[in-house]
Amino acid sequence: EAADAAMLDLKRDHAAAMARVRGVGLSGQMHGATLLGRDHRPLRPCILWNDGRSAAEARALDDAVTHRITGNLAMPGFTAPKLAWVKAHEPERFAATRFVLLPKDYVRLWLTGELVSEPSDAAGTLWLDTGKRQWSDEMLARTGLDRSHMPRLVEGTQASGAVRPDLAARWGLPAGVVVAGGGGDNAASAAGVGAVKPGTGFVSLGTSGVIFVSADRHRPNPGHAVHAFCHAVPETWHQMGVTLSAASALDWLAGALGRPVAGLFEGLPAAVDAPPAEQFLPYLSGERTPHNDVAIRAAFAGLSHETTPASLARAAMAGVAFALRDGLEALTVPLADPPALLAVGGGSRSPYWLSMISTVLGVPLYSPADGDFGAAFGAARLGLIASTGADPATVCATPAIARAVEPDARWRCAWDDAYARWRRLYPALKDATR
Ligand code: XUL
Repeated sequence: EAADAAMLDLKRDHAAAMARVRGVGLSGQMHGATLLGRDHRPLRPCILWNDGRSAAEARALDDAVTHRITGNLAMPGFTAPKLAWVKAHEPERFAATRFVLLPKDYVRLWLTGELVSEPSDAAGTLWLDTGKRQWSDEMLARTGLDRSHMPRLVEGTQASGAVRPDLAARWGLPAGVVVAGGGGDNAASAAGVGAVKPGTGFVSLGTSGVIFVSADRHRPNPGHAVHAFCHAVPETWHQMGVTLSAASALDWLAGALGRPVAGLFEGLPAAVDAPPAEQFLPYLSGERTPHNDVAIRAAFAGLSHETTPASLARAAMAGVAFALRDGLEALTVPLADPPALLAVGGGSRSPYWLSMISTVLGVPLYSPADGDFGAAFGAARLGLIASTGADPATVCATPAIARAVEPDARWRCAWDDAYARWRRLYPALKDATR
């Protein structure tokens, strides 16, 4: 319904451009278990990427076979453990499940009538042989499924079908608009910011926080809960560290303090300064990289009579910055020389937060000019490639940069010390917060 409303808005405001559309790309939140019956209708609400209910099933799947085939730990956010949970807790629904799709691929089914996915999102199911970019019969069998439950795979840059004639007529699109395979939101963001060559990447400050680096081959590091997935362009993979609460930690804090989130960013200096006395573990919905701990919960520490809402906000930003550094340290794919990361997501609009993160990571960060080079823009690039046959490396260029933020050498030691102190919180609070 939301996609239909958005398309109708576009038709109303940009009818001439809509009549010239040739390709559409798709991107969406990863890992969501979208269970469909024989009639292609959803059997239950989708179980989302940040849902931790399948912790026991994930533990049972987390062994050498899974690591060898997928290159990843079995984390509860991934799709396969969720299906194991449905099998154990909702057996009738499991028995009625004829297809399992990811969220954006459900939108594709409605758009085109085709059951299709692509390797970047499929890698997050734990049913993919990630190095081969094909479904693994062995992994599917471990959750009582087989290839007949899976959509067909195309590359993110390939056509997966065309917009249905009735929808095209409704939205004022020409006939035969190509729908590209597309990508999971992180791989599509990378296509949007031009991070497709090995060693290029981005940091995303969205609901979740992500450090993403492209690689020329599949490079697993399951020991540190690194996500080693396929990229949205062919013959390319990536590594990713994911912290589950980034900008959402600030949203939560604003709600808890009863003030608008913009208020938390008011009055901050333009660049990083001394680390706050207060500390914050941002694990509001558990953590993926590097702990893979679904039960850990968030905490403030070091509060005093001097603590104010403003200092809590700075501590929350610092906690997310440190969680991102944990993610970067877990990656084994080196950054290109000279190292740099693009900065995307709503939180990257704060110059102070970017300067802090750049200093904590020790990596320059570049903010794209001209609006949001997020996943939707990357998906549009994939749509362009699929409909014209253009070269992915040419289309996925680095956008114009509005602002470059360098690590601040004056504060680097102080933030290194603060990071070392912050690292002691997780082991200390691990058992106390669950
Ligand atoms: C990645 C992940 C999140 C979601 C957010 O593994 O779970 O980044 O894709 O939409």
